[in-house]
Amino acid sequence: MSKKRSIARIGIIGGGKFGEMHLRAFTQLERDGQAKLVALCDINEELLAKRHREYGVKGYTDYAEMLAKEDLDGVTVVTPDHLHRRFVVGCLKAGKHVLVEKPLDVTVEGCDEMIAEADKAGRILQVDFHKRFDPYHRQLAARVAAGAIGNPLYGYAWMEDRIEVPRDWFPHWAPQSSPFWFLGVHMVDLIRFCTRAKGVSVFASGAKKKLASLGIDAWDCVNARIVFDDGSTFAVDTSWVLPDRFEAVVNQGIRIVGTEGAIEVDSQNRGAEACTAAEGQQTWNLGFFLEERDKDGSTRWSGYGIESIADFAHNVNFLLRGGSLEQLAGKFVDGREAREATKIAVAAHESLATGKLVACSA
Ligand SMILES: NC(=O)c1ccc[n+]([C@@H]2O[C@H](COP(=O)([O-])OP(=O)(O)OC[C@H]3O[C@@H](n4cnc5c(N)ncnc54)[C@H](O)[C@@H]3O)[C@@H](O)[C@H]2O)c1
Repeated sequence: MSKKRSIARIGIIGGGKFGEMHLRAFTQLERDGQAKLVALCDINEELLAKRHREYGVKGYTDYAEMLAKEDLDGVTVVTPDHLHRRFVVGCLKAGKHVLVEKPLDVTVEGCDEMIAEADKAGRILQVDFHKRFDPYHRQLAARVAAGAIGNPLYGYAWMEDRIEVPRDWFPHWAPQSSPFWFLGVHMVDLIRFCTRAKGVSVFASGAKKKLASLGIDAWDCVNARIVFDDGSTFAVDTSWVLPDRFEAVVNQGIRIVGTEGAIEVDSQNRGAEACTAAEGQQTWNLGFFLEERDKDGSTRWSGYGIESIADFAHNVNFLLRGGSLEQLAGKFVDGREAREATKIAVAAHESLATGKLVACSA
């Protein structure tokens, strides 16, 4: 890694649905002079050609070749949930800083391996839990941390996708994931962002009806009750079978009740609604992602979905400019912090399989 450089050179592994969000984030940063989007790796050659047309990005089908041929400071991993580990470990071993999509891994052992590699390499291991960049959630967390609702007692968080997500976006890997891996970890991380508590035990139940009827062997919903080490209990409901005619792709929100008050965010319906003949009833979470025209006519992407990814480049730039990992500690979701969400999700899936209350691992 060049010591003279002050702008991060970035590669991306996985150029699918959410990989495009990474392509937009780094394209935007490049336009703003804050990063250089160097290359994209994906096993799908047709997709690589499409992404080259759209973003002018050089493509590789083998990430090891990309690492060997390109001078990269950081790599982002946007492959399916169960395929993060190999790429994260490989990139850290090659001395690259890494941003990985949530969940860090679907096993606690996988998280431990990644954390150990990051420690050994002295590199950033950051996880894209973008709920922490949503200004409404930041306000929620700040107020809870300031004691506005006293000590958290209990709460409820929900996140639900329209059925198009597992049915049309990734039916091939939905069985290896679940609504809890795909959505629930976001809400678990958001709860932890507010309360800082760690999971103690989980009881979860779920159902396989709708997707199974479409030939996809995946959970329709996973509903968990989580006890935390501050004595609070949260219900987290997740599903990805909302009907096609639901008003938004995602429905989500959170409510926390404490000894001195309650606080709540409807994270989906933020007050903008429409009903049109062509599209029916709609709501928009414009804070997450916005595509507009810049003054020169080029596309400008913004929103907390973009900022959360951009934060990685800012962290790498900080190191390139002489900052230290110690100075960054606690200022982004690192491997140890993300491991807490994985611990809870692993216990939830064990509870699903056994029908029992499951203790979170240490
Ligand atoms: N932060 C968020 O809100 C958010 C939203 C959606 C998805 N995600 C996460 O992003 C990740 C990707 O999800 P997605 O919806 O983009 O999935 P996707 O299936 O659309 O894309 C995954 C891509 O990885 C590629 N890939 C698979 N194996 C590969 C390999 N061996 N080498 C290189 N490329 C490979 C596939 O060809 C595909 O293009 C998942 O972990 C998901 O949970 C996060």
